[in-house]
Amino acid sequence: MNVHITGLGYGLPARRVTNEELAKTIDTTDEWIFSHTGIRARHIVGPEESSATLATSAAKMALARAGVKPEELGMVVVATSTPDYGAFPSTACLVQRDIGAVHAGAFDLFAACTGFIYALEAARSLMQNDLRPALVIGADVMSRITDWKDRNTCVLFGDGAGAAVLQASDRPGGIRHSILRADGKGAQALHHEGGCRTPQTGPWQGAYLQMNGRQVFNFAVKAFEEIVRDLIARQGITLSEVRWIVPHQANVRIIEAAARRLDIGLDRFFVNIGDLANTSAATVPMALEQLHREGKLQADDTVILAGFGAGLTWGGSLVQWQG
Ligand code: COA
Repeated sequence: MNVHITGLGYGLPARRVTNEELAKTIDTTDEWIFSHTGIRARHIVGPEESSATLATSAAKMALARAGVKPEELGMVVVATSTPDYGAFPSTACLVQRDIGAVHAGAFDLFAACTGFIYALEAARSLMQNDLRPALVIGADVMSRITDWKDRNTCVLFGDGAGAAVLQASDRPGGIRHSILRADGKGAQALHHEGGCRTPQTGPWQGAYLQMNGRQVFNFAVKAFEEIVRDLIARQGITLSEVRWIVPHQANVRIIEAAARRLDIGLDRFFVNIGDLANTSAATVPMALEQLHREGKLQADDTVILAGFGAGLTWGGSLVQWQG
């Protein structure tokens, strides 16, 4: 039994914020941001939007494209670092309610920017016992945990959601192999306080993500290269047999550095960070959706999905695309 991605969708806030707009409120320039990250703009939620609303939009699009009805779903998994509620209910339960997945279980999964890769593998594994279709979503509203006065971090992030419908079938291909890795020794490199570790004297007033940019950059380049090399080694294939690498979109310079280390052209990587910035768990499914929407995926293409981020976490999936 193989598990295939049969439908993809995305959810983006309507409001688009350019670098020029940011430069009106913080000491930065479009030139600095673009040359250091590849980012030109990002989408930012309005007051009525949240991880759950973006995830629900993405989910409805993915289900319609897969031709799967919500009531057929066995599981809804949402990877997010910015759940609608601090502890519970899970964002996945809100999505399950709002799409009408009345027969599905639902849970959230925390693996930061690697979240979609973790969720994909969790759902694929669960489907070995329950053959019903599963919905896997990466959704994050990074703007709500970002300090908009800190130019070192706020220029990097955006909001969005990407969804994938998984279906089991005897057709060859699909998700062939996944690797999930973690190293909690790097927990402080990228973290967000506000959980039970932080003693609270009154209502939680919110906290901002904190990052050691250089440390994260160096980790990301190495982790990214490792994922790609491990996946192809375990599948006994060469890099020349991989049509697309769809990486987490954190910084185009991370992707360029990994391309140099892997000694392959940048044209084999799908990059859409320019317009969307880093939407954490949403980047990989949104990039895969765009790649598919633009008609760049052919049946039997070998695709590597790769993620890395806070935790530290990293991981990847090798997919033989069946369309
Ligand atoms: N506009 C203008 N100047 C900025 C700036 C901004 N938005 N952000 C930082 N700077 C300044 C810094 O203050 C620093 O100034 P100083 O030398 O006077 O102290 C200078 O630019 C250079 O900073 P540096 O740290 O050398 O830049 P960098 O080339 O390492 O790029 C990042 C910084 C954050 C873009 C880069 O480290 C990065 O992308 N790291 C990974 C982050 C990431 O991907 N996180 C999510 C992972 S999932």
